[in-house]
Amino acid sequence: MSAYFNITIEDTGEVYRCRSDETLLAGMERLGKRGIPVGCRGGGCGVCKIHVHAGEYHKRVMSREYISVEEEAASIVLACRVRPLSDISLSVIGKMKKNVCATTDRVGQGMA
Ligand code: FES
Repeated sequence: MSAYFNITIEDTGEVYRCRSDETLLAGMERLGKRGIPVGCRGGGCGVCKIHVHAGEYHKRVMSREYISVEEEAASIVLACRVRPLSDISLSVIGKMKKNVCATTDRVGQGMA
């Protein structure tokens, strides 16, 4: 029997529901919302890196290539490897943050 939890993306203020038997990434994807960036969905690319500020979660093994021991200890994890055990509040970090927070900004407009 799975439970539902509310996941808050602090960067955007969005809240979505996520089942206890799906990953934070899958729950967000199901809604088809912009939010956590989606890559390999299997812990192999590192784009879904998030910082969990509050809440309990269950995590699967994550590649040290993307999550260091220190980061993991600081609740920095890959959303595709984490399932919620309670309501969760998180922020998206790293290079993909701009994708989450971007509105109409265009990326890559170089200024000489
Ligand atoms: S989507 Fe590739 S590591 Fe999470």
